[in-house]
Amino acid sequence: MRRKVTKAIFPVAGLGTRFLPATKSVPKEIMTLVDRPLVQYAIDEARAAGIKEFIFVTSRGKGALEDYFDHSPVLEQELRKKGKDDLLEVLKDTYMESGAIAYIRQHQALGLGHAVWCARRLIANEPFAVILPDDVIAADKPCLQQMVEAYEETGGNMVAAMEVAPEKASSYGVLDVAEDMGRLTRVKGMVEKPPFGEAPSNLAVIGRYILAPSVMKNLNKMKKGAGGEIQLTDAIAQDIDNEQPVYGYRFDGKRFDCGSKAGFLQATVAFALARPDLRDDMLAYINSVALNASAAE
Ligand code: G1P
Repeated sequence: MRRKVTKAIFPVAGLGTRFLPATKSVPKEIMTLVDRPLVQYAIDEARAAGIKEFIFVTSRGKGALEDYFDHSPVLEQELRKKGKDDLLEVLKDTYMESGAIAYIRQHQALGLGHAVWCARRLIANEPFAVILPDDVIAADKPCLQQMVEAYEETGGNMVAAMEVAPEKASSYGVLDVAEDMGRLTRVKGMVEKPPFGEAPSNLAVIGRYILAPSVMKNLNKMKKGAGGEIQLTDAIAQDIDNEQPVYGYRFDGKRFDCGSKAGFLQATVAFALARPDLRDDMLAYINSVALNASAAE
């Protein structure tokens, strides 16, 4: 029987400089789409996929993240006193079972591969998931759940994959495809941030991974790669040589790059439109803005 994936790593140590000055005092992962922080979307997706242990790789200044997943007795007491049961219910999603959540510090910003490696003692010899909270994916069935179901058949390593425009490929890890089976592709190599025109395909890695423990071992001896950083992509690619298969999984869903301002704003609009309590107001506003813009042309 294949071992179930019950642990997920959330690398959240980044400085979020693209969102300065906000990120001077607010961790990027606490920034909200409508009224829920980015990290809540990531946690919800992990829970839906059957994850039971949540490992955050953090850095200095991320204290708000720890508070977010803690109980808040004063707030709860106040809400209870005022009979605000609906809000007490909303808070439930933010609670973690005692011992289900761990925080590890990445002391130096040495790259995504290094951040994941910081969690090695908590992963030990098990397959594990990695979720990058910057990549928010709206989907009927949450992306990681789709992948866990596919992984139950394939084993090995699996990365979420999405076609991108050729001029965008150099912003991603890119798959070198051995066999394209539609939903799944078997991969014969992976390149992190290939120079323009040198990408092996237009299939990019999106921030959801299910990885074999051997990837952690590869990270033990990983050298700096693209951008002078220790890259997760390189450690996964190395597993292909270890005869551990690597698959790209084309997920169903719409991905938003919430690491960029434009992506974050698009996600805000999309998630607001998906909310029954906001949809009509938002649509009216968007339509009026669009009308004014075309009138001005
Ligand atoms: C990271 C990964 C890259 C992946 C991307 C997806 O890059 O290193 O392989 O394609 O996430 O969002 P980053 O965006 O952190 O530079």
